[in-house]
Amino acid sequence: MRLTIAVGAALLLLAGCEQKRAPLPQAAAPAEAGSAADISAGRAKYGSFCAGCHGPKAEGIAHYPKLAGQTEAMLAAKLAAFRSGQKVGDKSASMIPIARMLTETEVRQVARYLSSLK
Ligand code: HEC
Repeated sequence: MRLTIAVGAALLLLAGCEQKRAPLPQAAAPAEAGSAADISAGRAKYGSFCAGCHGPKAEGIAHYPKLAGQTEAMLAAKLAAFRSGQKVGDKSASMIPIARMLTETEVRQVARYLSSLK
């Protein structure tokens, strides 16, 4: 009886450890791989579609804002705002139709690429 309890407790402990450890490598690996693919897809999209206004390195030109180095969350939020027709700055009218041409996947890719720039 005691043995059963001891074995049961040991199994529970093991199970507890597994649960704590397991998600880490599983969550990290696909995200890393996805990021690299997203960044390269985002770079291509940016170069063909956005660089003309925001600059080849997203450094900003005249009244076209600098995008390089903004966080992924911030860029995605601004693009989502444009896509829903909300104003971000006083020149949003030119960005709204552009943002609406992007798919959600492209928004993520471009935001990941731009946030990877310094
Ligand atoms: C025709 C020129 C033009 C093109 C092409 C263009 N943008 Fe813009 N973008 C602007 C202007 C102008 C603003 C400022 C909008 C405002 O005042 O709200 C802007 C603002 C932004 C902002 C908000 C920046 C901030 O800090 O407020 C983001 C993000 C952005 N653009 C991303 C992109 C992406 C990604 C692409 C390519 C898919 C792109 N833009 C293509 C003109 C352009």
